[in-house]
Amino acid sequence: MGEEYRGSSEGGAIEAPAAQAPGMRIDVLTVLPAMFVGPLDHSIIGRARTRGLLDLRVHDLRDWTHDRHRTTDDYAFGGGGGMVMKPEPLFEAVEDLLGIPPRLPDGREPLPCPVVMMTPQGRRLDHAYAQELSRYDRLIFLAGHYEGFDERVRQHLATHELSLGDFVVTGGEIPVMLTIDAVVRLRPGVVGLASATETDSFAAGLLEHPQYTRPADFRGWTVPEQLLSGHHAQVARWRAEQSLARTAERRPDLLAGRPGRQGS
Ligand SMILES: C[S@@+](CC[C@H](N)C(=O)[O-])C[C@H]1O[C@@H](n2cnc3c(N)ncnc32)[C@H](O)[C@@H]1O
Repeated sequence: MGEEYRGSSEGGAIEAPAAQAPGMRIDVLTVLPAMFVGPLDHSIIGRARTRGLLDLRVHDLRDWTHDRHRTTDDYAFGGGGGMVMKPEPLFEAVEDLLGIPPRLPDGREPLPCPVVMMTPQGRRLDHAYAQELSRYDRLIFLAGHYEGFDERVRQHLATHELSLGDFVVTGGEIPVMLTIDAVVRLRPGVVGLASATETDSFAAGLLEHPQYTRPADFRGWTVPEQLLSGHHAQVARWRAEQSLARTAERRPDLLAGRPGRQGS
């Protein structure tokens, strides 16, 4: 699937990202809000939340149902046995959260922020995709279940479709959590040392160089002497060489198209 793939039609119109402010708001629509308790409460993402850099709001999709059983899924037309996420609660929830009128077939109003639908059929998450999403000050994620979403959600509500890879998991919650981590860590101020994210694998188009810590000699396995030299330029040269060599060995596809390489 190509870089520019968005995978939606009319839902796809969104306003350009605002100038990046420190705080990002993320709304998640899920039938299993309890799954979000824990993983995003700790470490760097947890600190981003307490510092006001991330305002994460996880909503129970059933709050936008109107029947006694709070139904969010129904049988697939055409048979086959699988259940499908119904469009009504998803549309109503997004409209409510954004304070916009109901989306209708003849409407063309752009959505004020990306509505990201989790699906194994979407554009695969990579550094470029995470960076693109990190430029928005607000995102909405839709976590699916069963056979996935009614097609009209994809066509007329979602602005982005996001896949974690060519495999299928049982629900969109873990993919949403992983995506939030990948996106939020790229926001200014979230990772203490900004240069740390810049040298991470993929950020500069390469895999990162190997890392070592103390002891310098562990059971006879020693740390490369260039790293112990205390000579800044020598360390930088060693790291650059290692990064390039490692990328060439493991991910030559990342080097194709780089200046000085003829599609190798
Ligand atoms: C069992 S899957 C549905 C798969 C769907 N029937 C298909 O074949 O494309 C249920 C939900 O899990 C989530 N999901 C599963 N695999 C995913 C992946 N690789 N990336 C992102 N979300 C995924 C999606 O939200 C999806 O709607």
